[in-house]
Parts: sequence; C-alpha cells; structure tokens
Amino acid sequence: MVDFNIAIIPGDGIGVEVTAAAWEVSLAAAEICGVKLSATKFPWSCDHYIKTGAMMPLDGVETLRNYDAILLGAIGWPANVPDDVSLHGLLLRIRKEFDLYANVRPHKLLSGVTGPLRAENIDILCIRENTEGEYSGAGGRVHRGTADEVAVETSVFTRHGVERILRYGFEMARKRRRQLASVTKSNAQRYSMVFWDDVTRQLSAEYPDVEVRSYHVDAIAARMIMLPETLDVVVASNLFGDILSDIGAAIQGGLGFAASANIDPTGRSPSMFEPVHGSAPDIAGKDAANPIAAIWSAAMMFEHLGQTKLASRISDAVGRACARGVGAGLPSSSYGTRHITNEILLEIAR
Ligand code: NAD
Ligand code: IPM
Ligand code: MN
Repeated sequence: MVDFNIAIIPGDGIGVEVTAAAWEVSLAAAEICGVKLSATKFPWSCDHYIKTGAMMPLDGVETLRNYDAILLGAIGWPANVPDDVSLHGLLLRIRKEFDLYANVRPHKLLSGVTGPLRAENIDILCIRENTEGEYSGAGGRVHRGTADEVAVETSVFTRHGVERILRYGFEMARKRRRQLASVTKSNAQRYSMVFWDDVTRQLSAEYPDVEVRSYHVDAIAARMIMLPETLDVVVASNLFGDILSDIGAAIQGGLGFAASANIDPTGRSPSMFEPVHGSAPDIAGKDAANPIAAIWSAAMMFEHLGQTKLASRISDAVGRACARGVGAGLPSSSYGTRHITNEILLEIAR
C-alpha cells in the first residue's frame, strides 16, 4: 500500500538535477518515518516540446489530478523554446487551471548560511497571489512590426482573488509573529492597488490581533535589504510577489535556498511544490546547483500532506547540514549538488 502518489516534473536544466536530489532525500526520510511514497516522472519540458510540439499533452493537467501533489524542478530553455511558450504551456497553466492561488515562499536565513547582509534574524514569509493580477493573461498585440504597433497587457484584480489571498496572509501571520505587510503601488496605480489597500483595511477589522502595515513595493524592496528583521508575513500581487521573492532569495543566501509551494487551500486540486529558481542554463549539467531549495520544497509538500514528522525530518536535516557549513559560501562554494545531497542524506540518517 502506497501512502502518497507524487507526480514529478523535473523540467529543464538544473530542474532535473535538483528534483533528483529532492526525491532521493524524500525517499530516505520516508523510509525512516515509515511512509510509503510512489512517484511518476513526467518528461514534460522544452525537450518534450521540441519532440512533440507541446510542453505537455492536452489532458496533462487532468492526468496530474490523479496525484496527491506535484514536485516540479524548473521550466525554461530559452535558447530552444521561447519562455512565454514554455512557461505558459506548463507551469503557469498548472497554477491557473488548478487554481493554486497561494504561492508561499519562506525566506529564512538558515544558521551557517552566508547571506549578503549583516542582519542575522531573517525570517520572512512571502505570500504571493498566483492566479490573476499582472499575470491575468488579458491583452493583445496589434499592427505587429509596424510603427503603429501596440501591446496591451491588463492586470486583473477581483474581489474574490484579492480577498482570498489577503485572508491567507492574515491567517499565516496569526500562526507566526502576527505582523502582516501588504504590498501595493497605490500611489501610482489608482484602481487595482487602491482596491487592494481597501480590502486590506476591510479585512484587518476581522484580525485585530494581527498588526497590518501597507507598504509601497519600492519601499518594501529597500526595507527587505535594510531592515529585513522588521518583516514577518509579506503579502503581494503576482508580479510584485515574484520580484520580492527573488530579493528574499538573495538575502537568504541565494536562489538555491528559496523554496516555494503553490497551494490550493481548498484541497480540491493537488498542490505543486518547486524551488523559486529557474533552470539556470549557465550552470546546468555541471553538478553546481544548490539542491536545498528543491529539498526544502519537498519538505513543504509533506507538511501540506499532513506528514509533519517526515517534513521536519527533512527540514531539520537541511538545518543541521547548513549549520555544519554545507551551504557556506554558496553560490561560489566548491560544494556541488552531489556533495550537498550526500551531506543532507547523512543528517537524515542521524
Ligand atoms: P534562474 O533562477 O534560472 O537563474 C538565475 C541565476 O541564479 C543564474 O546565475 C543561476 O545560475 C543562479 N541559480 C539559480 N538556481 C540556482 C541554484 N539552485 N544553485 C546555484 N545557483 C542557482 O533564472 P533565469 O536565468 O532568469 O532563468 C532561466 C530559465 O528558467 C528561463 O527560461 C526562465 O524563464 C526560467 N525560470 C523558470 C522558473 C520555474 O520554472 N519556476 C523560475 C524562474 C525562471
Ligand atoms: C517564479 C518564476 C515564474 C513566475 C516564471 C518562470 C514565469 O519566475 O516562479 O518565480 O514569474 O511566476
Ligand atoms: Mn520568479
């Protein structure tokens, strides 16, 4: 009897390397915890596109519905397939069609990891809206190639979408240090962003125990670097959350440390877990990728599946390996994917 069926989409570039590491660690930890895992690997990637003309089969999303969760590496190989084709054909499609509206990205500087800042107590949880906003897909391009060319891309903010992500942020803040930073650019964008601020204010009445502050995205970008210790939960729109979570990744030691979860809080669809980083063509195939972001994403997956012990077996092992200096000096460290994975496997067994 299998407890969980996981769909693995390694994708492109280092996605293949880091998902292999994350699954190896998952299996080792699951065996110790007495959890039976089974995985189906899907070869959906830019190579698959070259071979078949599609990133995934037409019924690919429906196929994924049969799994308890999805573990994804990274998608994109712009030298062969344009990014807007590959990402919309797979990653963004899954997020939207499964309505995985909460993109949860922990930016915690683990002890032993060298970040670029002096601050040591960095523990920010970025909650990114994942289905609408600037990524709505509404737009068009006319008079291509002429002097009259026009491109329009409309952000879409609905009460349904904004309210549910803010509520998710408030709930997360309640479980943590009870501080919520709501991010907009309402000094310049007077409709969608003022609306977001209004909904933040309305909901705050329901959460009197949470201290809420609204920030402009430019100001919070600076604050994440100058005063990161003052931030707890940060909730932002799709694009702002995307950008802020790369800052979050940077201040936690690099993209190789930033994990993420695309969650459907209703539980109707399988949720998807992936590192924040991409396929990193510059280091792919060189055993140079830090697998910690992917391994940490697997821990988030087991947490989501209710396997708290298994999740902490993995995250504690990552924490101890880092405390011993395994992640020190990354990304320029001489430690490779294999070495870091081995060190984490040692800690799993301990
Ligand atoms: P990227 O995240 O792939 O790489 C940015 C920089 O960070 C590179 O120098 C890379 O070497 C480094 N880096 C990333 N992950 C690392 C790791 N685990 N260990 C060590 N260093 C790491 O971003 P990019 O270069 O803008 O994008 C490359 C491709 O990936 C593009 O096709 C892009 O669209 C795609 N992408 C996909 C996802 C995803 O599937 N979730 C996310 C971001 C980018
Ligand atoms: C991320 C990525 C994606 C995003 C890209 C590859 C479409 O940058 O997951 O952060 O913008 O959501
Ligand atoms: Mn991103």
